[in-house]
Amino acid sequence: MSDQQPLVELRGIRKSFGPVRSLDGVDLTLARGEVLGLVGDNGAGKSTLMKVLAGAVRHDDGDILVKGEKARFASPADARRAGIGIVYQDLALCDTLDVAGNLFLGREPRKGPFLDRREMHARSARILADLHVRVTSTRQEIGTLSGGQRQTVAIARAVSTRPDVLILDEPTAALAVAEVESVLRLIGEVAARGVGVILITHRLQDLFRVCDRITVMYEGRSVDDARISDLDIEKLVALITRADAEPAHEPAALGTETHS
Ligand SMILES: Nc1ncnc2c1ncn2[C@@H]1O[C@H](COP(=O)(O)OP(=O)(O)OP(=O)(O)O)[C@@H](O)[C@H]1O
Ligand SMILES: [Mg+2]
Repeated sequence: MSDQQPLVELRGIRKSFGPVRSLDGVDLTLARGEVLGLVGDNGAGKSTLMKVLAGAVRHDDGDILVKGEKARFASPADARRAGIGIVYQDLALCDTLDVAGNLFLGREPRKGPFLDRREMHARSARILADLHVRVTSTRQEIGTLSGGQRQTVAIARAVSTRPDVLILDEPTAALAVAEVESVLRLIGEVAARGVGVILITHRLQDLFRVCDRITVMYEGRSVDDARISDLDIEKLVALITRADAEPAHEPAALGTETHS
């Protein structure tokens, strides 16, 4: 793969759920080592688009290219094999399992027919230490962790599968200041290893901390793409709310006629 070739390219992605058109032609590109912010109002289609990329939702039309090759994912497992890791907006951790059990859910190390618990806990401790995640014990039940600890465990699980692409859907929505900091640092570290990160967040200030570029969605379409260094908060808000956008489907020439 050449350096110029995008890691991921989405072209004209469309998806309807019955009469609801959630995605109406979305384009997006992501490079290696890049952190891309995906922004837009509630219901703009961000989570749906990322579920398409992660194989959890099948799109109706459009192309997914990963490292230049067309992909069509029939399942999340397919997308995982292609190097796509995702932390869903609703986390999807198993409350009754401990930290290690969640980190290795579905891919537990085995010794013959048995679960190799010792190995699982040792590897879990290494993964968490690598990512500077602080939990007291890998034997602690997930349900007893704080929101921030749960969040970092969910991210650690996705990161530990060594994805080429890491999708984080609202990873900091419910976090306190220190916890947000640790997630943002984690994003930086992962990107520095060459992983392409897509970050969905409504915390606009975070985008300026970690993103290289942003893609703006509006009503199921990708409407803007900008380098974060060309923006400030006001400009970004204007892009998201379409404050100074041309009306989308208005005829170009209306003459001097005024509406009253
Ligand atoms: N399984 C589904 N069935 C029907 N409609 C759906 C389904 N999933 C998503 N939608 C609709 O698609 C649209 C986009 O939803 P999506 O969750 O992608 O938005 P979002 O940009 O992630 O919003 P938020 O910022 O609130 O998380 C919404 O109108 C939503 O109701
Ligand atoms: Mg969402």
